[in-house]
Amino acid sequence: MIVYYSLTQHTQDIANQIAKLTNADIYRIQTEEELKPSLSFYSRVKKDLKNKTYPALKGQMPNVDDYDIIFVGSPVWWYTMATPMYSFLGQTDFKGKKVIPFSTQGSNPGNFLQDFNANAKNAKIGTYANFNNVSAKYNEAVHNKIVHWLNSL
Ligand SMILES: Cc1cc2nc3c(=O)[nH]c(=O)nc-3n(C[C@H](O)[C@H](O)[C@H](O)COP(=O)(O)O)c2cc1C
Repeated sequence: MIVYYSLTQHTQDIANQIAKLTNADIYRIQTEEELKPSLSFYSRVKKDLKNKTYPALKGQMPNVDDYDIIFVGSPVWWYTMATPMYSFLGQTDFKGKKVIPFSTQGSNPGNFLQDFNANAKNAKIGTYANFNNVSAKYNEAVHNKIVHWLNSL
């Protein structure tokens, strides 16, 4: 299964490509409150991360027990995971599961992977991949990177 959070669709695009290539189920994490990117959003997220205030999630979460391998993707926010990803990991136990993290970013993933590892409870973590949030002219290169990564797992 692929579980992801995406605000502006970059992570969603990667998640969709993984789903297509692996024929896996896919689940989009959504927040109760609709989050909208804006200038003030950046400072709000910074504060929320500092205070460990994570948004409530909408709907029923997928049952990870039904899967052996779970890809988990999130954008990088302030050098770490997006706050809804903290919400998801906080309520999930990956005991006995292989978890493969991926992220999308502007320029600097910071501590994304370390923070993911520290918060993905009981997961056996597989090879992480991070993707730049790039324009459509790099679509083929991004796709090739995904294929190469999946083949390496
Ligand atoms: C609040 C916020 C903080 C961000 N912080 C970072 C960061 O620390 N490093 C980085 O490389 N990109 C950062 N970005 C850019 C996103 O990681 C990038 O645009 C990502 O591909 C967005 O994924 P999405 O379209 O799936 O939401 C930030 C974006 C937002 C909205």
